[in-house]
Amino acid sequence: MEARVQLSKHMFAFAETMSLRCAVELGLPDKIYEHGPLTLAELATKLPIESVNMDRFEQTMRYLVHINLFTPTTNHHEETKYELTPMSRLLLSKIHNNKSLATFVMGATDPEELFVSGRLVESLGGSKSCWELQHGVTLSEKMMNDNKWSKVSDALNANTLNMIDAVVDGIKRESIIDQSVTTLVDVGGNTGIAAKAILNAFPHLKCTVMDLLDVVENVPKDPQLTLVAGDFLSSIPNGDVLLLKSILHGYDDDVSVTILNNCKKAMHPTRGRLIVVEMVLDMETMQEFSHARLGLAMQMMLIGGKERTKKGWERVIHMAGFTRYKIVPIAAAESIIGLGVGCQMRKSRRGRRFEVRKSRGYNRGLKSLKFEKARSALEESLRRVEDIVPQAIVLVIVNELERTIFTLDPLEKQVGDDVIALLQQDRNFNDGGNNNELEIFHQAASRLGITSS
Ligand SMILES: C[S@@+](CC[C@H](N)C(=O)[O-])C[C@H]1O[C@@H](n2cnc3c(N)ncnc32)[C@H](O)[C@@H]1O
Repeated sequence: MEARVQLSKHMFAFAETMSLRCAVELGLPDKIYEHGPLTLAELATKLPIESVNMDRFEQTMRYLVHINLFTPTTNHHEETKYELTPMSRLLLSKIHNNKSLATFVMGATDPEELFVSGRLVESLGGSKSCWELQHGVTLSEKMMNDNKWSKVSDALNANTLNMIDAVVDGIKRESIIDQSVTTLVDVGGNTGIAAKAILNAFPHLKCTVMDLLDVVENVPKDPQLTLVAGDFLSSIPNGDVLLLKSILHGYDDDVSVTILNNCKKAMHPTRGRLIVVEMVLDMETMQEFSHARLGLAMQMMLIGGKERTKKGWERVIHMAGFTRYKIVPIAAAESIIGLGVGCQMRKSRRGRRFEVRKSRGYNRGLKSLKFEKARSALEESLRRVEDIVPQAIVLVIVNELERTIFTLDPLEKQVGDDVIALLQQDRNFNDGGNNNELEIFHQAASRLGITSS
């Protein structure tokens, strides 16, 4: 039975996508935000629809409640009113939330774009992506020749605006930018949202945004930014720091290596560094996070791109001739992949950081079981508080947690070994044995700093 339920869930997954889109298109989050919790009838009067079919609207709201976009509460008049949830707050329009993801949702759920997924089987049998099969050109060619792209860029800008603070935090935390660098080039930087956020944090930088001519011509002039039209597949303006955000996931390995090579040529030979911002896929994170990342990865595949695992990233990084890199988890679905100066994997006191690995092999057994249990308990607690703690914070904790390698403090280990040895002793409870036992416990307590009062 469970298998059949699972099957139905996947078969009708479209319901989530389309009801979510409907909620944004109707501006439901805004209506509730502006007027307070509303009943179904009150909400219906605020819709941009002349005569609302109340039966269908009720069914749609039922589903939106089911997917946690709204919460129904019943007051003392037995009236049910709909309230916002943390998820629907993300979908308030820009006037109420300047980091709104509403436009991103509208771009990602565009039925015309989703339609290309119908070519999936066909695309598995050849070199063309679903997008190319549907439109006759690659997305990259389309972007170069069709300025309808600006519609898509609104959606992408919304996402960049929503998560760029996490990138800046990661850059600061890892000191990827410091006073030794003075210029930054945002490669494929669109309207320069990312460049500006970085500039705010590091005002000593001179920033250049490089994009296609069509895009650059339509970007409002900004005295803080130098706009340069160009093609990153051919060459990139020189800079101390290069930013490559959400670019490589649009291309296969060969083209990605070409872009990385062009970045390498443009980077300052001694102080150059490249900040790649992309997802690093893994199957071990909490299910919800993997599911979200893998869904996006499928969408990128449909349009001819590719999200990569850590191994996939290592492959293109090495093919492009970079020897030093580090992956920095941030409070977003993406990570920072730092390349160049100061970006080697770092050893930390508790083992190698930035390496996705769980305790395995030599340290299996009681010790690792204890840590795995602690890890699972933490993950479970995070799942429970997910709705009340900002998602960004949960993501940082999860990213750190999955990359943490637990090791025993040597002092703790010594104490543990003593206690285990004691427990394994042949228990001959004569006076001497008890004294010995007591003595070991005393020693253990004093090493751990436990005193009796
Ligand atoms: C997915 S968007 C990323 C924009 C920005 N980096 C961000 O993360 O918000 C890809 C950007 O690359 C630009 N682009 C595409 N092909 C390009 C090319 N050959 N040379 C320069 N820019 C290009 C697009 O115009 C677009 O702005």
